Amino acid sequence: MTPAGPKYFPTAGHLLVCQGQSCQARGSRLLYQALWQALDREHLAYYKSGGRVRLTESGCLGACSYGPTVCVYREREGTLEQGWYAAMTFPKALALAHAVQAGRDLPAEHRYGPAEPLTP
Ligand code: FES
Repeated sequence: MTPAGPKYFPTAGHLLVCQGQSCQARGSRLLYQALWQALDREHLAYYKSGGRVRLTESGCLGACSYGPTVCVYREREGTLEQGWYAAMTFPKALALAHAVQAGRDLPAEHRYGPAEPLTP
């Protein structure tokens, strides 16, 4: 008999909030905590009924002077889409999570970097 593996939670996308030193100095710790609570409260978090968004902390995302930095990855139309955001606020991060949950286009405000999906 094989032991049970970890439970897999299908998600609509994965948000990462930088917890590097520069982003923390710009409020990323509080941003992460507030976002976590909102995802839980609004049933957007993957572990809640109907929730489809995964949220984790990350190390430095390489935009230290423009934090708090957030990135998102999701599969959309068969490709891996990425979104990079600088100077994120709680309302903008929550709007990003709602877009991921609903499968809508990612918000353009505060977005930087490639707008095209990653191609294999
Ligand atoms: S510390 Fe956040 S991007 Fe570098």
